[in-house]
Amino acid sequence: MSTLEIRDLHVAVEDKEILRGVNLTVNSGQTHAIMGPNGSGKSTLAYAIAGHPKYTVTGGRVLLDGVDLLELSVDERARAGLFLAMQYPVEVPGVSVSNFLRSAVTAVRGEAPKLREFAKDLKNGMDALSIDPAFAQRNLNEGFSGGEKKRHEILQMELLNPKIAVLDETDSGLDVDALRVVSEGINRFRATGDTGVLLITHYTRILRYVKPDFVHVFAGGRIVEAGGPELADKLEAEGYEQYTKASA
Ligand SMILES: Nc1ncnc2c1ncn2[C@@H]1O[C@H](COP(=O)(O)OP(=O)(O)OP(=O)(O)O)[C@@H](O)[C@H]1O
Ligand SMILES: [Mg+2]
Repeated sequence: MSTLEIRDLHVAVEDKEILRGVNLTVNSGQTHAIMGPNGSGKSTLAYAIAGHPKYTVTGGRVLLDGVDLLELSVDERARAGLFLAMQYPVEVPGVSVSNFLRSAVTAVRGEAPKLREFAKDLKNGMDALSIDPAFAQRNLNEGFSGGEKKRHEILQMELLNPKIAVLDETDSGLDVDALRVVSEGINRFRATGDTGVLLITHYTRILRYVKPDFVHVFAGGRIVEAGGPELADKLEAEGYEQYTKASA
């Protein structure tokens, strides 16, 4: 059993305070959805947890199984069991998907996976996500369509097998079939019960496939309401105005 604990987290970007006291606990076996208006700080939360250098933590703590993630480098955080799928993944020319994934698995495990074993895991993962085999030889994210990027993120997550996965808008820009494939990937991964998922999303669409245990409303840099899956439906019907007014 693993636990991610975010305690009174304050984060600034270029001297502007964006996160203003975030408290959240995610246990393995749980899926938490974070919803909230544009610019409310959801991606900032994901980047700060992952250790992006632009985001300065000005207060609070982030613990993964008692280990203070904020003291660790980005690589060390990944090794500690944290996975972040980004809203805007970077292109890496000259590095193939397959090489990138093998390096990532090596970095996280501390040793290189056996080639044959890795090739098998990669093939199974790609089959499960209906990814064309030729994709493994493409340069990372170069010319990937929106949907291909998202499938690749889920493939990466399944290969890395983290304790806690933070998925920032994994559903954005997916067509109906891709949404189903990606959701099934997340569900396969959740079914192990060893992992906690923090799912940042704008749409209740994905939450129909990936049922969250908790839904949190993010506004003005903090969590302003929490509830069960029914809260997502309420947000879809009513919008965020009541929260944005209150947090302004
Ligand atoms: N690197 C940065 N430089 C300057 N401002 C930033 C930076 N990153 C975030 N911000 C600002 O912080 C605020 C929160 O941004 P963030 O991306 O966390 O919002 P979000 O909730 O993820 O929004 P969206 O739903 O549109 O993805 C915004 O006002 C944004 O402009
Ligand atoms: Mg965002």
